[in-house]
Amino acid sequence: MGGEIKQDGLKENGMITLGIESSCDDTAAAVWCSERGLLSSVVSSQDVHVSWGGVVPELASRAHHQTITDTVKHALERARITVKDLDRVAVTEGPGLMGSLLVGLSFAKGFSLSHNLPIVGVNHIDAHLYAAFIEHEPEFPFVGLIVSGGHTRLVRVDAPFVHTLLGETRDDAAGEAFDKTGKMLGLPYPAGPEMDRLAREGDPEFHAFPRSMIREGLEFSFSGLKTSLLYYLEEQKEEYVTKHRADICASVSAAITEVLSVKLERAMEQTGIRSVVMAGGVSANSMLRKRCRAMADRLQTALWIPSPEYCTDNGAMIAVAGAMMDSLERGRVQRGVGIRPYARMPR
Ligand code: KG4
Ligand code: ZN
Repeated sequence: MGGEIKQDGLKENGMITLGIESSCDDTAAAVWCSERGLLSSVVSSQDVHVSWGGVVPELASRAHHQTITDTVKHALERARITVKDLDRVAVTEGPGLMGSLLVGLSFAKGFSLSHNLPIVGVNHIDAHLYAAFIEHEPEFPFVGLIVSGGHTRLVRVDAPFVHTLLGETRDDAAGEAFDKTGKMLGLPYPAGPEMDRLAREGDPEFHAFPRSMIREGLEFSFSGLKTSLLYYLEEQKEEYVTKHRADICASVSAAITEVLSVKLERAMEQTGIRSVVMAGGVSANSMLRKRCRAMADRLQTALWIPSPEYCTDNGAMIAVAGAMMDSLERGRVQRGVGIRPYARMPR
Protein backbone atom coordinates (compact mmCIF):
# COMPACT_ATOMS: atom_id res chain seq x y z
CA MET A 1 0.00 0.00 0.00
CA GLY A 2 1.65 3.35 0.89
CA GLY A 3 0.86 5.77 -1.95
CA GLU A 4 1.65 9.28 -3.14
CA ILE A 5 0.53 12.33 -1.24
CA LYS A 6 -2.20 14.20 -3.12
CA GLN A 7 -2.66 18.01 -2.91
CA ASP A 8 -5.46 17.63 -0.38
CA GLY A 9 -3.25 15.55 1.86
CA LEU A 10 -4.87 12.24 0.91
CA LYS A 11 -2.79 9.33 -0.30
CA GLU A 12 -3.48 8.12 -3.81
CA ASN A 13 -4.65 4.71 -2.58
CA GLY A 14 -6.70 6.33 0.16
CA MET A 15 -6.19 7.17 3.81
CA ILE A 16 -6.62 4.16 6.06
CA THR A 17 -8.30 4.46 9.45
CA LEU A 18 -8.50 1.89 12.23
CA GLY A 19 -11.70 2.37 14.26
CA ILE A 20 -11.96 1.05 17.82
CA GLU A 21 -15.22 0.86 19.79
CA SER A 22 -15.62 -0.30 23.41
CA SER A 23 -18.27 1.94 24.97
CA CYS A 24 -20.65 -0.75 26.19
CA ASP A 25 -20.62 -4.54 25.77
CA ASP A 26 -19.24 -4.99 22.24
CA THR A 27 -15.51 -4.91 21.55
CA ALA A 28 -15.21 -3.81 17.93
CA ALA A 29 -12.54 -2.81 15.43
CA ALA A 30 -12.73 -1.98 11.74
CA VAL A 31 -10.55 -0.72 8.91
CA TRP A 32 -11.88 2.00 6.61
CA CYS A 33 -10.16 3.23 3.45
CA SER A 34 -11.19 6.61 2.02
CA GLU A 35 -10.85 5.26 -1.54
CA ARG A 36 -11.90 1.62 -1.23
CA GLY A 37 -14.47 1.80 1.56
CA LEU A 38 -14.77 -0.70 4.40
CA LEU A 39 -11.95 -3.24 4.40
CA SER A 40 -12.99 -5.12 7.55
CA SER A 41 -15.29 -4.97 10.55
CA VAL A 42 -14.96 -7.27 13.55
CA VAL A 43 -17.40 -7.25 16.46
CA SER A 44 -16.82 -9.39 19.51
CA SER A 45 -20.06 -9.45 21.51
CA GLN A 46 -19.90 -10.27 25.20
CA ASP A 47 -22.24 -13.04 26.31
CA VAL A 48 -21.24 -12.83 30.00
CA HIS A 49 -24.15 -10.44 30.63
CA VAL A 50 -26.99 -12.68 29.44
CA SER A 51 -27.33 -14.58 32.72
CA TRP A 52 -27.48 -11.24 34.62
CA GLY A 53 -30.26 -9.86 32.40
CA GLY A 54 -28.30 -6.68 31.62
CA VAL A 55 -24.78 -5.30 31.21
CA VAL A 56 -22.59 -5.65 34.32
CA PRO A 57 -20.01 -2.82 33.96
CA GLU A 58 -17.11 -4.57 35.68
CA LEU A 59 -17.60 -7.73 33.61
CA ALA A 60 -17.80 -5.61 30.46
CA SER A 61 -14.45 -3.89 31.23
CA ARG A 62 -12.78 -7.23 31.91
CA ALA A 63 -14.15 -8.76 28.71
CA HIS A 64 -12.97 -5.76 26.65
CA HIS A 65 -9.56 -6.10 28.25
CA GLN A 66 -9.43 -9.77 27.31
CA THR A 67 -10.53 -9.42 23.68
CA ILE A 68 -9.39 -6.01 22.43
CA THR A 69 -5.94 -7.08 21.21
CA ASP A 70 -7.27 -10.00 19.17
CA THR A 71 -10.20 -7.95 17.85
CA VAL A 72 -7.83 -5.31 16.45
CA LYS A 73 -5.49 -8.02 15.14
CA HIS A 74 -8.35 -9.73 13.31
CA ALA A 75 -9.56 -6.43 11.83
CA LEU A 76 -6.09 -5.80 10.35
CA GLU A 77 -5.79 -9.39 9.09
CA ARG A 78 -9.21 -9.38 7.46
CA ALA A 79 -8.42 -6.05 5.79
CA ARG A 80 -5.18 -7.69 4.53
CA ILE A 81 -3.07 -4.82 5.82
CA THR A 82 -0.39 -4.35 8.46
CA VAL A 83 0.03 -1.63 11.06
CA LYS A 84 2.39 0.16 8.66
CA ASP A 85 -0.48 0.80 6.21
CA LEU A 86 -2.53 2.71 8.77
CA ASP A 87 -2.79 6.52 8.66
CA ARG A 88 -4.76 7.13 11.83
CA VAL A 89 -6.63 5.59 14.74
CA ALA A 90 -10.18 6.61 15.65
CA VAL A 91 -11.57 5.63 19.04
CA THR A 92 -14.79 6.13 20.99
CA GLU A 93 -14.30 8.77 23.71
CA GLY A 94 -17.84 8.61 25.09
CA PRO A 95 -20.61 8.46 26.09
CA GLY A 96 -20.63 5.02 27.63
CA LEU A 97 -19.52 2.92 30.59
CA MET A 98 -16.40 4.51 32.06
CA GLY A 99 -14.49 1.24 32.59
CA SER A 100 -15.33 0.04 29.08
CA LEU A 101 -14.31 3.36 27.50
CA LEU A 102 -11.03 3.36 29.42
CA VAL A 103 -10.03 0.00 27.98
CA GLY A 104 -10.58 1.10 24.36
CA LEU A 105 -9.04 4.53 24.88
CA SER A 106 -5.98 3.25 26.71
CA PHE A 107 -5.43 0.61 24.06
CA ALA A 108 -5.84 3.17 21.26
CA LYS A 109 -3.50 5.67 22.92
CA GLY A 110 -0.81 3.05 23.45
CA PHE A 111 -1.28 1.80 19.88
CA SER A 112 -1.07 5.29 18.39
CA LEU A 113 2.00 6.24 20.45
CA SER A 114 3.89 3.06 19.64
CA HIS A 115 3.12 3.25 15.92
CA ASN A 116 3.36 7.05 15.72
CA LEU A 117 -0.19 7.46 14.40
CA PRO A 118 -2.55 10.41 14.94
CA ILE A 119 -5.54 9.54 17.10
CA VAL A 120 -9.06 10.96 16.77
CA GLY A 121 -11.59 10.87 19.60
CA VAL A 122 -15.11 10.13 18.37
CA ASN A 123 -18.50 10.66 20.00
CA HIS A 124 -20.32 7.32 19.95
CA ILE A 125 -23.82 8.74 19.48
CA ASP A 126 -22.79 11.02 16.62
CA ALA A 127 -20.86 8.14 15.07
CA HIS A 128 -24.06 6.06 14.84
CA LEU A 129 -25.31 8.60 12.28
CA TYR A 130 -22.14 8.36 10.22
CA ALA A 131 -22.66 4.59 9.90
CA ALA A 132 -24.95 5.58 7.02
CA PHE A 133 -21.84 6.74 5.14
CA ILE A 134 -20.34 3.23 5.16
CA GLU A 135 -22.66 2.14 2.34
CA HIS A 136 -24.34 5.35 1.15
CA GLU A 137 -23.74 9.05 0.65
CA PRO A 138 -26.53 10.85 2.50
CA GLU A 139 -27.21 14.43 1.43
CA PHE A 140 -26.80 17.33 3.86
CA PRO A 141 -28.76 18.80 5.48
CA PHE A 142 -30.54 15.81 6.94
CA VAL A 143 -32.72 14.96 9.92
CA GLY A 144 -31.13 12.23 12.01
CA LEU A 145 -33.02 9.82 14.26
CA ILE A 146 -30.65 8.06 16.65
CA VAL A 147 -32.27 5.18 18.50
CA SER A 148 -29.97 3.07 20.65
CA GLY A 149 -29.92 1.30 24.00
CA GLY A 150 -29.08 4.48 25.90
CA HIS A 151 -30.24 7.34 23.65
CA THR A 152 -33.19 8.47 21.57
CA ARG A 153 -32.52 11.74 19.77
CA LEU A 154 -33.73 13.71 16.81
CA VAL A 155 -31.06 15.98 15.38
CA ARG A 156 -30.75 18.39 12.50
CA VAL A 157 -27.44 17.89 10.71
CA ASP A 158 -26.56 20.84 8.47
CA ALA A 159 -23.04 19.70 7.60
CA PRO A 160 -20.66 17.02 8.89
CA PHE A 161 -20.59 17.32 12.70
CA VAL A 162 -22.78 20.44 12.70
CA HIS A 163 -25.63 19.00 14.76
CA THR A 164 -28.59 20.73 16.42
CA LEU A 165 -30.63 18.76 18.92
CA LEU A 166 -34.34 18.84 18.03
CA GLY A 167 -35.64 16.51 20.73
CA GLU A 168 -34.66 13.59 22.92
CA THR A 169 -36.17 11.20 25.42
CA ARG A 170 -37.21 12.44 28.83
CA ASP A 171 -36.78 9.01 30.40
CA ASP A 172 -36.06 5.62 28.81
CA ALA A 173 -34.42 5.23 25.41
CA ALA A 174 -36.21 3.28 22.66
CA GLY A 175 -33.75 0.36 23.00
CA GLU A 176 -34.30 0.35 26.74
CA ALA A 177 -38.06 0.19 26.13
CA PHE A 178 -37.57 -2.89 23.94
CA ASP A 179 -35.18 -4.50 26.43
CA LYS A 180 -37.27 -3.82 29.54
CA THR A 181 -40.64 -4.83 28.08
CA GLY A 182 -38.99 -7.88 26.49
CA LYS A 183 -37.56 -8.87 29.87
CA MET A 184 -41.07 -8.66 31.36
CA LEU A 185 -42.15 -11.06 28.63
CA GLY A 186 -39.39 -13.49 29.59
CA LEU A 187 -37.03 -12.76 26.69
CA PRO A 188 -33.24 -12.92 27.19
CA TYR A 189 -31.06 -9.76 27.25
CA PRO A 190 -30.86 -7.79 25.02
CA ALA A 191 -34.52 -8.39 24.19
CA GLY A 192 -34.72 -6.01 21.18
CA PRO A 193 -33.70 -8.50 18.45
CA GLU A 194 -35.93 -11.27 19.89
CA MET A 195 -38.89 -8.86 20.23
CA ASP A 196 -38.34 -8.02 16.56
CA ARG A 197 -38.34 -11.70 15.55
CA LEU A 198 -41.48 -12.57 17.58
CA ALA A 199 -43.32 -9.40 16.51
CA ARG A 200 -43.11 -10.53 12.88
CA GLU A 201 -45.35 -13.50 13.79
CA GLY A 202 -47.84 -11.44 15.83
CA ASP A 203 -50.70 -8.98 15.41
CA PRO A 204 -49.58 -5.37 16.05
CA GLU A 205 -53.20 -4.38 16.76
CA PHE A 206 -53.79 -7.13 19.33
CA HIS A 207 -53.62 -4.62 22.22
CA ALA A 208 -53.34 -0.82 22.13
CA PHE A 209 -50.41 0.13 24.37
CA PRO A 210 -49.94 3.87 25.06
CA ARG A 211 -48.13 6.14 22.59
CA SER A 212 -46.84 8.73 25.06
CA MET A 213 -46.44 12.34 23.89
CA ILE A 214 -47.33 11.35 20.32
CA ARG A 215 -49.64 14.32 19.65
CA GLU A 216 -47.09 17.09 19.87
CA GLY A 217 -43.45 18.02 20.11
CA LEU A 218 -40.22 16.23 19.31
CA GLU A 219 -39.51 14.83 22.76
CA PHE A 220 -40.03 11.19 23.65
CA SER A 221 -41.17 9.27 26.73
CA PHE A 222 -41.12 5.48 26.89
CA SER A 223 -41.24 4.74 30.62
CA GLY A 224 -45.07 4.64 30.71
CA LEU A 225 -45.04 1.71 28.31
CA LYS A 226 -43.34 -0.52 30.91
CA THR A 227 -45.95 0.32 33.54
CA SER A 228 -48.74 -0.22 31.07
CA LEU A 229 -47.37 -3.65 30.10
CA LEU A 230 -46.86 -4.53 33.76
CA TYR A 231 -50.54 -3.84 34.59
CA TYR A 232 -51.65 -5.62 31.43
CA LEU A 233 -49.62 -8.74 32.29
CA GLU A 234 -50.90 -8.74 35.89
CA GLU A 235 -54.46 -8.85 34.56
CA GLN A 236 -53.88 -11.77 32.21
CA LYS A 237 -53.59 -15.48 32.89
CA GLU A 238 -50.12 -16.97 32.30
CA GLU A 239 -51.37 -19.37 29.59
CA TYR A 240 -52.98 -16.47 27.75
CA VAL A 241 -49.72 -14.50 27.79
CA THR A 242 -47.77 -17.55 26.61
CA LYS A 243 -50.26 -18.16 23.80
CA HIS A 244 -50.21 -14.52 22.69
CA ARG A 245 -46.55 -13.66 23.34
CA ALA A 246 -45.94 -12.84 19.67
CA ASP A 247 -49.08 -10.65 19.53
CA ILE A 248 -47.99 -8.77 22.67
CA CYS A 249 -44.47 -8.30 21.25
CA ALA A 250 -46.00 -6.99 18.00
CA SER A 251 -48.31 -4.61 19.91
CA VAL A 252 -45.47 -3.24 22.08
CA SER A 253 -43.27 -2.86 18.98
CA ALA A 254 -46.10 -1.03 17.20
CA ALA A 255 -46.37 1.45 20.09
CA ILE A 256 -42.63 2.18 20.10
CA THR A 257 -42.19 2.37 16.33
CA GLU A 258 -45.30 4.48 15.74
CA VAL A 259 -44.08 7.15 18.17
CA LEU A 260 -40.65 7.14 16.53
CA SER A 261 -41.96 7.45 12.97
CA VAL A 262 -44.58 10.11 13.84
CA LYS A 263 -41.94 12.26 15.58
CA LEU A 264 -39.54 11.77 12.70
CA GLU A 265 -42.20 12.95 10.25
CA ARG A 266 -42.91 15.94 12.51
CA ALA A 267 -39.20 16.84 12.58
CA MET A 268 -39.19 16.77 8.76
CA GLU A 269 -42.27 19.01 8.63
CA GLN A 270 -40.82 21.47 11.15
CA THR A 271 -37.41 21.72 9.51
CA GLY A 272 -38.61 21.40 5.92
CA ILE A 273 -35.73 18.97 5.37
CA ARG A 274 -36.38 16.07 3.00
CA SER A 275 -33.39 13.88 3.74
CA VAL A 276 -33.31 11.47 6.66
CA VAL A 277 -30.75 9.20 8.33
CA MET A 278 -31.82 6.59 10.86
CA ALA A 279 -29.21 5.03 13.12
CA GLY A 280 -28.46 3.10 16.31
CA GLY A 281 -29.31 -0.45 17.38
CA VAL A 282 -33.09 0.03 17.23
CA SER A 283 -32.89 1.11 13.59
CA ALA A 284 -32.17 -2.59 12.89
CA ASN A 285 -35.81 -3.21 13.90
CA SER A 286 -37.78 -4.53 10.93
CA MET A 287 -41.10 -2.88 11.89
CA LEU A 288 -39.41 0.51 12.32
CA ARG A 289 -37.55 0.18 9.02
CA LYS A 290 -40.75 -0.76 7.18
CA ARG A 291 -42.79 2.02 8.76
CA CYS A 292 -40.19 4.71 8.08
CA ARG A 293 -39.58 3.44 4.56
CA ALA A 294 -43.33 3.74 3.84
CA MET A 295 -43.40 7.24 5.33
CA ALA A 296 -40.38 8.31 3.28
CA ASP A 297 -41.96 6.95 0.08
CA ARG A 298 -45.23 8.76 0.83
CA LEU A 299 -43.36 12.05 1.40
CA GLN A 300 -40.86 11.43 -1.40
CA THR A 301 -38.03 11.74 1.05
CA ALA A 302 -34.58 10.22 0.81
CA LEU A 303 -34.12 7.84 3.75
CA TRP A 304 -30.77 6.25 4.57
CA ILE A 305 -30.63 3.36 7.03
CA PRO A 306 -27.41 1.36 7.51
CA SER A 307 -27.52 -2.42 7.05
CA PRO A 308 -28.48 -4.03 10.38
CA GLU A 309 -24.87 -4.95 11.28
CA TYR A 310 -23.91 -1.26 11.12
CA CYS A 311 -26.98 -0.14 13.14
CA THR A 312 -25.78 -1.89 16.28
CA ASP A 313 -22.42 -1.01 17.83
CA ASN A 314 -19.48 -1.52 15.49
CA GLY A 315 -16.00 -0.18 14.78
CA ALA A 316 -16.76 0.81 11.19
CA MET A 317 -18.91 3.78 12.23
CA ILE A 318 -16.09 4.98 14.51
CA ALA A 319 -13.55 4.65 11.68
CA VAL A 320 -15.77 6.50 9.18
CA ALA A 321 -16.67 9.28 11.62
CA GLY A 322 -13.02 9.62 12.71
CA ALA A 323 -11.83 9.79 9.11
CA MET A 324 -14.40 12.49 8.31
CA MET A 325 -13.56 14.49 11.43
CA ASP A 326 -9.87 14.30 10.71
CA SER A 327 -10.16 15.30 7.07
CA LEU A 328 -12.41 18.20 8.08
CA GLU A 329 -10.11 19.09 10.97
CA ARG A 330 -13.09 19.23 13.29
CA GLY A 331 -11.70 16.50 15.53
CA ARG A 332 -9.24 16.77 18.29
CA VAL A 333 -6.54 15.15 16.25
CA GLN A 334 -3.54 14.57 18.44
CA ARG A 335 -1.19 11.95 19.70
CA GLY A 336 -2.93 10.58 22.71
CA VAL A 337 -2.91 12.66 25.82
CA GLY A 338 -5.72 15.14 25.06
CA ILE A 339 -8.40 12.52 24.50
CA ARG A 340 -10.46 11.81 27.58
CA PRO A 341 -13.38 9.49 28.23
CA TYR A 342 -16.80 10.87 29.20
CA ALA A 343 -19.74 8.86 30.50
CA ARG A 344 -22.53 11.23 29.38
CA MET A 345 -23.40 13.03 26.18
CA PRO A 346 -21.94 16.55 26.41
CA ARG A 347 -24.55 19.36 26.31
O1 KG4 B 1 -26.62 1.08 19.26
P1 KG4 B 1 -26.60 -0.11 20.14
O2 KG4 B 1 -25.99 -1.37 19.59
O3 KG4 B 1 -25.86 0.18 21.48
C1 KG4 B 1 -26.00 1.39 22.16
O4 KG4 B 1 -25.31 2.37 21.78
O5 KG4 B 1 -26.85 1.43 23.07
O6 KG4 B 1 -28.10 -0.39 20.57
C2 KG4 B 1 -28.44 -1.47 21.38
C3 KG4 B 1 -29.94 -1.48 21.53
C4 KG4 B 1 -30.42 -2.53 22.52
O7 KG4 B 1 -31.38 -1.94 23.36
C5 KG4 B 1 -31.03 -3.60 21.63
O8 KG4 B 1 -32.06 -4.34 22.23
C6 KG4 B 1 -31.57 -2.75 20.50
O9 KG4 B 1 -30.57 -1.78 20.27
N1 KG4 B 1 -31.78 -3.53 19.27
C7 KG4 B 1 -33.01 -3.72 18.72
C8 KG4 B 1 -32.80 -4.54 17.58
N2 KG4 B 1 -31.47 -4.79 17.47
C9 KG4 B 1 -30.87 -4.17 18.51
N3 KG4 B 1 -34.21 -3.29 19.10
C10 KG4 B 1 -35.26 -3.65 18.35
N4 KG4 B 1 -35.16 -4.42 17.25
C11 KG4 B 1 -33.96 -4.89 16.83
N5 KG4 B 1 -33.86 -5.64 15.73
ZN1 ZN C 1 -24.35 2.46 20.19
